[in-house]
Amino acid sequence: MNMQAILALSYLIGSITFIVGLKMLSHPDSARRGNLVAAAGMAAAILATIFLYQDEMGNPLNNYGWIFAGLIVGTVVGTLSAKKVQMTAMPEMVSMFNGMGGACAMLISIIEFHHLTSDFTWELYEESGYTFFSSLPGGMLATILIGMVIGSVSFAGSVIAWGKLNGKIKDRSFNGQHIVNLGLLAIVAGLILLILVARPGQTITYFYLILALSLVYGVLFVLPIGGADMPVVISLLNSFTGVAAAFGGFLYNNPVMLTGGILVGSAGTILTILMCKAMNRSLKNVLIGSFGAQATGGSGEAKDQGHYKEISLNDTAVLMAYAQKVMIIPGYGLAVAQAQHACHELEKLLNEKGVEVYYGIHPVAGRMPGHMNVLLAEADVPYEKLMEMEDANEQMSTTSVVMIIGANDVVNPAAKEDPSSPIYGMPILEVERAEHVIVNKRSMKPGYAGIENDLFFKPKTSMLFGDAKKVLQDLVSELKQV
Ligand code: TAP
Repeated sequence: MNMQAILALSYLIGSITFIVGLKMLSHPDSARRGNLVAAAGMAAAILATIFLYQDEMGNPLNNYGWIFAGLIVGTVVGTLSAKKVQMTAMPEMVSMFNGMGGACAMLISIIEFHHLTSDFTWELYEESGYTFFSSLPGGMLATILIGMVIGSVSFAGSVIAWGKLNGKIKDRSFNGQHIVNLGLLAIVAGLILLILVARPGQTITYFYLILALSLVYGVLFVLPIGGADMPVVISLLNSFTGVAAAFGGFLYNNPVMLTGGILVGSAGTILTILMCKAMNRSLKNVLIGSFGAQATGGSGEAKDQGHYKEISLNDTAVLMAYAQKVMIIPGYGLAVAQAQHACHELEKLLNEKGVEVYYGIHPVAGRMPGHMNVLLAEADVPYEKLMEMEDANEQMSTTSVVMIIGANDVVNPAAKEDPSSPIYGMPILEVERAEHVIVNKRSMKPGYAGIENDLFFKPKTSMLFGDAKKVLQDLVSELKQV
């Protein structure tokens, strides 16, 4: 078998491992292996490209110094940051890594644009009177330009999303932001058309203008989005990076890059649609930016809404021990407190006492898609005990005790009852239909969306204050004595 056949085979194997890996990611039991399978395929494709690739003249790659320097720096930075990152800071890291993918697509386009234009003989062009477009491989030029626009929007947007998630950048919006965003897109589209009929001297100017405006659009697109809507945007940016990488695959006629890009692009798009559904938002609003801007700005202070009731650990233990069915609703606070193991202990103990225990999982609980599933899987909670929101809501009226642990927005009745609320319309876990509601958190402060939660003041609700891990450990000790 010759070198090129081995290279093609390695691309085929790489593409297959991406598909198999993605499939394995859909179940917590196989997700870890799925990630490794896809990473192994990617490594094989990269190494095969480095050592086996030859251009049309039969020349191998020659810039090994740059390639290996990039590989080493990327591997060291990636490994260290992935090892160091806290589970709760994962979305920021995902956002930053995604932004780097967008930046790669952007840089590829810049370099290939210069290759394309430097190979072109301007004298002939001047004499012929042809347009730039008709004198160059037009498909290639369009691929470069579109890849650059999508890549740079994804890069700039992801960096802003990273800053917003870690609190370094605040939400900002101004009147008419939709119009400005749409205007920017229209100008970029116009410049792309212009570049195709441009004179040689103008081409570079238009090109860099497109790049600059795309970066500005990326910033303006993400800057006003706040409150509970960031997950949708991160997923959308992720799909943008996939599409930009797929354009790179077209450009280099590289099947594995194309497959990888298409898979990331389509998986990101599906996730975006699913999350829009979970948040009851339309994709149109996401695309023109600035929805959810008003969802932010929680002062962190509780307004006076009447009285709330507290419950002691002992009373909670008794209530749970004599319940028939308990539904645990985990949220971001469970992840912050790293209370998943204590939570599993509680569940096992209740099972031993003959109590049925389930977990009600809201699709955007926590700070990243599947956050609660990953967290509970880490503590070996059986997957069958996790109920999706719709199923959990069906079970609510036959549930004796709902125990909310570090969740807030996902159980806020304002989403159903208050049309002026920024989260109005988002489906929630309808815990009020259960017999008793116990809420564990540390204070009366709001959650991510920065808004009050009337649930805490309802007659059925009792507050069990304290750090989730400590409270759950103490509750387990109490239960053992009941
Ligand atoms: P949140 O609404 O953010 O509420 C979490 C609650 O946990 C807080 O009110 C906090 O109250 C409590 N808490 C924090 N540390 C705690 C600890 N150590 N022990 C006990 N409680 C603790 O969380 P949620 O209900 O899971 O909702 C998720 C929110 O994040 C939604 O608005 C969602 O849209 C947004 N979001 C989701 C994602 C994804 S994809 N899941 C990504 C970005 C944003 P105290 O301070 O009083 O303890």
